[in-house]
Amino acid sequence: MAEGKMKERIALITGAARGIGFATADALAGEGATVVLSDILDEVGESAAKKIKERHGESKARFIHHDVTSEEQWIAVCADINKKEGGLDVLVNNAGIYITAPIETMTIGDFQKIMDVNVKSVFLGCKHAIPLIRQRASRWKGGGAVVNLSSSSGIIGSPSLAAYCASKGAVRLMTKAVATECGSRKHPVRVNSIHPGFVDTDMGEQSSALAVSMGVAKSAEEARRFTENLHILRRVASAEEIARAALFLASDDAAFMTGAEMVVDGGMSAR
Ligand SMILES: NC(=O)c1ccc[n+]([C@@H]2O[C@H](COP(=O)([O-])OP(=O)(O)OC[C@H]3O[C@@H](n4cnc5c(N)ncnc54)[C@H](O)[C@@H]3O)[C@@H](O)[C@H]2O)c1
Repeated sequence: MAEGKMKERIALITGAARGIGFATADALAGEGATVVLSDILDEVGESAAKKIKERHGESKARFIHHDVTSEEQWIAVCADINKKEGGLDVLVNNAGIYITAPIETMTIGDFQKIMDVNVKSVFLGCKHAIPLIRQRASRWKGGGAVVNLSSSSGIIGSPSLAAYCASKGAVRLMTKAVATECGSRKHPVRVNSIHPGFVDTDMGEQSSALAVSMGVAKSAEEARRFTENLHILRRVASAEEIARAALFLASDDAAFMTGAEMVVDGGMSAR
């Protein structure tokens, strides 16, 4: 069984059936945390949890169905974790969606959907998980931790991404607001955001397809090159590279970081 810097911590990672969420759950479990993976994709989520159990120990992971847009489900998930795991130390608000369309044609339905999944979820997560996290937070040098997945799109704008950029900008500033609130109430909970560029996941592929639909690339191959060249490092990130940033922010290594935005974008937003 894994021993490490997250030993004895309990973490909830939303949208963890695949992609960055799965890689983060795996990284946290690899450092000794017990991880609860939540998602709306039940089959994929169950097999993701199984993989983590095989790698890190039978008691180290479980999957729970959880639609992050539902307040009822947040209440039920937090109560279930409190009962079964005995508390919570880390929340990674990772679940998110990506919908692209020019501002003139994007529907209000799609705008609302993106705000629900990407922003309302983070609000509900902070609202319902922080009361649980702060109960155990004084056990750890760096207190409890909330890590919110924003994006380089929460810092810079891009065409056809008005709703996505608005949602990730909201996550960036909600993170800072909640961090100040925890501080002023003397709750030992740190709240930080991560800002990836393009990441090699299902969502990353969706964003390459955008380059084709916008006519900036003629083929998937050309779109891939276009996307890679947006980064100073001329490649996209792996999910594991973003997971390492989440692990850092969740751990005591980041004990003096709160309200911060960690940019992990291969230099994409630097120019
Ligand atoms: N991939 C990228 O290029 C990239 C870049 C910057 C930021 N991000 C952000 O990182 C996070 C993870 O992205 P990813 O690339 O792993 O995406 P992904 O599409 O591979 O995974 C997202 C997960 O969220 C889940 N999800 C969607 N709606 C949900 C809901 N209502 N309730 C619960 N779960 C839900 C999906 O089922 C999926 O498992 C997202 O917040 C995304 O916006 C991704």
